[in-house]
Amino acid sequence: MTIRLTPADADIARAVEIWRAGGRVAFPTETVYGLGADAASDIAVARIFEAKDRPSFNPLIVHVATLEQARELAVWSETAEALAAAFWPGPLTLVLPLRPGARVSSLVTAGLDSVGIRMPAHPVARQLLRAFGGGIAAPSANRSGRISPTRAAHVLATLNGRIEAVVDGGPSDVGLESTILGLTGRPTLLRPGGIAIESLSEVLGTRVSRRHDTEAISAPGQTPSHYAPRAAMRLNAAEWEEGEATLGFGPMPCDLNLSEREDLTEAAANLFAHLHALDAMGRPVIAVAPVPHRGLGIAINDRLSRAAAPR
Ligand code: TXA
Ligand code: MG
Repeated sequence: MTIRLTPADADIARAVEIWRAGGRVAFPTETVYGLGADAASDIAVARIFEAKDRPSFNPLIVHVATLEQARELAVWSETAEALAAAFWPGPLTLVLPLRPGARVSSLVTAGLDSVGIRMPAHPVARQLLRAFGGGIAAPSANRSGRISPTRAAHVLATLNGRIEAVVDGGPSDVGLESTILGLTGRPTLLRPGGIAIESLSEVLGTRVSRRHDTEAISAPGQTPSHYAPRAAMRLNAAEWEEGEATLGFGPMPCDLNLSEREDLTEAAANLFAHLHALDAMGRPVIAVAPVPHRGLGIAINDRLSRAAAPR
């Protein structure tokens, strides 16, 4: 059962407790309801994907309460400063270079070296984020492929029983997701949304270019900047060969194991960190044991086959 919470102080404290324990709490933002969990915790973020039933791992937006928190997560710039001053709190997400050593799960960034950050304006979101004191990763609070939720009832319609709690803060008024602006190179609109492109151009003093390959955005694994190991990948390996770096699943000898107890949520939480670590071993091939093609295993296999694609 999913607990239904209100914006009363005791309920906010309860929601924060659930976040601290690695649980998922859906909460209102001015755009849509978000399905939030501790952005610093691999397992908490894996549970978001588990609840949503998403067939792939796309990067998630980190929600913050203060500019200070944003600066801790990303390499900040004058451009970011100007945009934040003009539009935060509000429906604008900035994709910035990830600050080395930032406390953010690689499942949030999908292994990229950039991070999407936004400071929502909804008073209940702000209350929750301030009380939590850290970044909250949150995609829209709906099962994959369903319409975005603008009410607590919409959240429960697809996620009841799959998440720990929802905070009911009334209807979201924008009803459209945040505008996403890429700032890792020249300012690029990655997703149109709650803030018009003209308003962004005005603050920046230059025209923001629109990105047309929407395919690459919805499937960030295909963008050139996406994390891909240097080593070649050999998937569904029935046995290990000499000299390979080996990634196991289930009880077996290997260099690193996604989940010895065959837990797909644990496997998802370990995926990016393990791939990085195996790649760092410098062997020519990373061999990966078969991962069952169900639940989160579908997203794991999607990510693995992208990493294995010829390039
Ligand atoms: O209004 C919103 O933005 C809502 C509320 C809950 O805040 N959230 C939301 O999250 O729409 P989601 O997961 O549906 O959208 C995340 C999208 C990704 O699909 C990707 O396009 C982009 O944000 N994104 C996030 N981090 C990125 C990164 N490092 N590089 C490129 N794109 C990124
Ligand atoms: Mg969404």
